[in-house]
Amino acid sequence: MASIPWSVAEESLDVNFSVPLQLRLRCTRNCFLDDWDQVLPLLKSDSRQARVQIWMDRNVVDNNPAILTNLSRRISESSDSLELVAPIALVEGGEQIKNDPDAIETIFQSIDRDGLDRRSYILVIGGGAVLDAVGYAAAIAHRGIRLVRFPTTTLAQADSGVGVKNAINAYGKKNWKGTFAVPWAVVNDQSLLEHLPDRDFRAGFSEAVKVSLLKSPAAFRFLCDQAHAIVARDWNAVLPAIRSSVLMHLHHITHGGDPFEMQEARPLDFGHWSAHKLEHLSQFRLRHGEAVSIGVALDTVYSHLVHGLDRADMQRTLQVLRDLQLPLFDQELDAQTIFDGLEEFRQHLGGRLTVTMLRAVGQSVNVHSIDQVAMKESIEMVREFSLAKVS
Ligand SMILES: NC(=O)c1ccc[n+]([C@@H]2O[C@H](COP(=O)([O-])OP(=O)(O)OC[C@H]3O[C@@H](n4cnc5c(N)ncnc54)[C@H](O)[C@@H]3O)[C@@H](O)[C@H]2O)c1
Ligand SMILES: [Zn+2]
Repeated sequence: MASIPWSVAEESLDVNFSVPLQLRLRCTRNCFLDDWDQVLPLLKSDSRQARVQIWMDRNVVDNNPAILTNLSRRISESSDSLELVAPIALVEGGEQIKNDPDAIETIFQSIDRDGLDRRSYILVIGGGAVLDAVGYAAAIAHRGIRLVRFPTTTLAQADSGVGVKNAINAYGKKNWKGTFAVPWAVVNDQSLLEHLPDRDFRAGFSEAVKVSLLKSPAAFRFLCDQAHAIVARDWNAVLPAIRSSVLMHLHHITHGGDPFEMQEARPLDFGHWSAHKLEHLSQFRLRHGEAVSIGVALDTVYSHLVHGLDRADMQRTLQVLRDLQLPLFDQELDAQTIFDGLEEFRQHLGGRLTVTMLRAVGQSVNVHSIDQVAMKESIEMVREFSLAKVS
């Protein structure tokens, strides 16, 4: 054993240490058919079989029952290396599952009943809400069971799937109970998006616009050029847009120096301070991606008025969101009400209020206060743009 470098005389020590972590991302075409051979090796095991439990968003199955049939077939063909410890469980999709403490308790009880341990696997197939809720239970049980995420919305494939957070809502607040936990693997599969309703299909691209504004003028131009093709669900536009978004998110998490958000700044939350408030005010009538579209529109206009973002880039941003058929404005967007969201955002982050704004496309700036007069003007400008006739 290496000798301990500290003397017994030392009474206080500040020790830095880091832990090697790995996040496995697989981009597949049809993961429960031909591409199963990319999934199976993820489920490594010390013994003969990996022990696996599967949770699935009910709406995914309702829209495409073949997914369940295909997955069940693959599982039974793989019985040499994989043991499914209980039948595939269907759970309610959308924010409902995050608002329902009984749903989490059911997952805990199943994990206990089936005797899963830290080397077992929980596979979760669903939208961001189901990934968040099942991921939360997986992170808490035994202090962490290996989690393999199969995101089934564009939002979860472009953004949250590779995130290291999971959460449920509590005390009337979003994501109040949650943990940081790195997923074992994320499988971004094209076929899982094929039956996604148009509204949810479009919603995820607000996160792609967001991250491109923060990180990449080239990715932003691509989205501007391809917005109509994305809405038409042309895979030649959709797949690169999702791919570049997920890679930028992944790079930020793995190389940004602050995966567990210990510093004040959270650049990936551009546009989110008002978005979180709007989601709540609308009682989740607005999808997360739609609220983010409005939040990004608002903070982009504000960035133009206050932080020098070029006017043409501001207009391009509003236009690309409009071309993606995402909302820019909502009746809930009232200045005084959403300003309350700033304080909630600060509390959630802890410390000083820190909000990310743009100086230019690809160049962000962290600010610690919001000029309420300019923000009110921004709300008005976004409202006018949203009402203007499409040319
Ligand atoms: N952990 C993170 O880092 C992080 C980041 C961003 C967002 N989120 C969370 O993700 C949630 C939003 O996720 P989302 O936008 O993916 O929406 P969602 O999970 O709410 O799904 C939207 C709807 O689509 C359904 N659905 C999902 N996939 C489908 C499919 N393939 N076919 C048919 N229906 C399908 C769902 O059941 C739901 O009704 C929010 O709770 C948000 O807070 C988490
Ligand atoms: Zn988001």
